[in-house]
Amino acid sequence: MRAIEVTEHGDASVLQETERDRPTPESNEVLIEVTAAGINFADIQQRMGIYPGGPSPPFIPGFEVAGTIVETGADSSLEPGTMVASICPGGGYAEYTVAEAGSVFPIPPALSAAEAVAIPVQFLTAHGCLFDRGGLGAGERVLIHAAAGGVGSAAVQLAANADAEVFGTASSEEKLEHARDLGCDHPINYETQSFADVINDITGGDGIDLIIDGVGGDTFRESLDCLAHFGRIVTMGASTGEPARPNTAKLLVNNQQVIGFHLGNTLARNPERALTPLDELLSSLSDGELEVVIGGRFDLDEAGSAHSFIEDRSSRGKIILEP
Ligand SMILES: NC(=O)c1ccc[n+]([C@@H]2O[C@H](COP(=O)([O-])OP(=O)(O)OC[C@H]3O[C@@H](n4cnc5c(N)ncnc54)[C@H](OP(=O)(O)O)[C@@H]3O)[C@@H](O)[C@H]2O)c1
Repeated sequence: MRAIEVTEHGDASVLQETERDRPTPESNEVLIEVTAAGINFADIQQRMGIYPGGPSPPFIPGFEVAGTIVETGADSSLEPGTMVASICPGGGYAEYTVAEAGSVFPIPPALSAAEAVAIPVQFLTAHGCLFDRGGLGAGERVLIHAAAGGVGSAAVQLAANADAEVFGTASSEEKLEHARDLGCDHPINYETQSFADVINDITGGDGIDLIIDGVGGDTFRESLDCLAHFGRIVTMGASTGEPARPNTAKLLVNNQQVIGFHLGNTLARNPERALTPLDELLSSLSDGELEVVIGGRFDLDEAGSAHSFIEDRSSRGKIILEP
């Protein structure tokens, strides 16, 4: 089968097409013929060699796929021929991949494979950050960084549907327009102004109840300048490459919390907890209450261009590979 391999840690040029044997499913796994593979920021960090605990080259990246089951392990009750989406333990950038049967779900008829592939990582992460870890309530103010991105596009919609007042940051007017279309009440261009100043102006200094931060670095530091008393900030990534470094003295005097979220480790330790929102998400996506924004479709052998598209901050929504 055709697959994309990270040959060594480095820039997007280390993503090379290769031929590999089709994997064989273990008893608790299924083999999926991949129609769409999702690209996530973590894939880029694994390629660069900066993802904590990431694999050593050579490896096939890709945490989520959608496609057709072609073979099942002895313990799986799923039927060959079923269209499914799934989180996988890597190996998604390929014509075939294996996934644990417990992480696989049938794609509802209203959704295409390209749409369904945004659900396993980005929608579950957005939901987990906002509600499980973040405890977002109706009427609260929420700030979503990279609001036009993959997780961001999902989070803005989920927060707006939960009747929160939604603030979002992005680096261009086009991205801010996109976030506004998805339900962001206050899109803020952080390149041209201080988002903390803008938020403190709008809220009369009261600040934000819940902040979702996948950017880290200066963005996390500035976030603490507009976090409300009793506010929560969920740290779930570091697209700047610099993880969040909380100022605990500030947290202490303001009764604030910094909370972590990691989908993979939630799935590993408590799969039921990680997958609880799945049925609700599938139903809302099927009836149009939520939408998957597909921001780019690339052939398998264009994986390098797809990574660059995200790294250059040109992308919006979900970016997929189509083997
Ligand atoms: N904890 C988890 O389980 C989990 C799961 C999925 C994703 N994540 C994390 O969530 C974040 C978003 O992931 P995603 O896949 O949806 O990516 P994405 O948001 O589609 O793309 C990353 C965005 O981050 C912003 N950004 C800020 N500084 C950047 C920099 N130095 N280089 C590149 N981009 C930068 C850019 O938006 P602007 O141009 O608008 O600034 C860019 O579009 C990532 O940190 C990812 O690791 C965590």
